[in-house]
Amino acid sequence: MKKSFLSRMGNLGKIMNRAAFSDVQQKITKYHYGSDAFMRILESRYSCHAFSNYPVPETKLNMVLEAGRLAPSASNLQPTRIWVVKSEDALARLRTVHPCYNAPVVLIVGCRNEEAWIRESDGVNAAKTDAAIMLTHLMLTATDAGLANMWIWDFNPSKIREVLPETREHGVYALLALGYPETGAGKPTELHSVRKSLDELVKTL
Ligand SMILES: Cc1cc2nc3c(=O)[nH]c(=O)nc-3n(C[C@H](O)[C@H](O)[C@H](O)COP(=O)(O)O)c2cc1C
Repeated sequence: MKKSFLSRMGNLGKIMNRAAFSDVQQKITKYHYGSDAFMRILESRYSCHAFSNYPVPETKLNMVLEAGRLAPSASNLQPTRIWVVKSEDALARLRTVHPCYNAPVVLIVGCRNEEAWIRESDGVNAAKTDAAIMLTHLMLTATDAGLANMWIWDFNPSKIREVLPETREHGVYALLALGYPETGAGKPTELHSVRKSLDELVKTL
């Protein structure tokens, strides 16, 4: 007997599921058997100290923000927030207290101790650790998206709160400047190639 259109659609659904599964499987296999794509991202990231005026495409910015959303946090309490500073007005206000190397987009990552997990044994609050993990997701995804970036910590949080009162509810943890490097000046500094050796860094017990 001839199969109905709908039952054939059912088969098609199964085939499509299989295709999707094999796609995932292929990615897993690639990862386990020697993909060095992630290592290449880690190696190509550097702190950019000079950005051009070239704007950050929305699609790239959204991908970076999505990576921040996916970050894990202690007990999944998600005590972090991100403020995207990109309007002329907000950038001008921010630049009165930090130049941000002329980046056309600056992400301010904040966190609230009151929303974070606290370790019972010694009372340590996880908010800043959660924020650092989120920053790392943002920074590496930006690199993967071809965006130069710079983790900025040398700022005065109370001055940021003054010029951007929107951030007041949360502690401002760090800034992440995003954009494209200024020709010449936007290249890695000498410190980029200075790292301890594995011998110095790792002690096997
Ligand atoms: C937590 C953190 C805070 C940083 N804050 C600043 C900063 O405020 N100003 C600055 O010039 N660089 C800052 N940096 C960049 C470091 O100086 C830089 O990562 C380091 O010199 C290694 O260079 P590389 O990032 O190009 O590999 C910061 C980096 C980290 C991880």
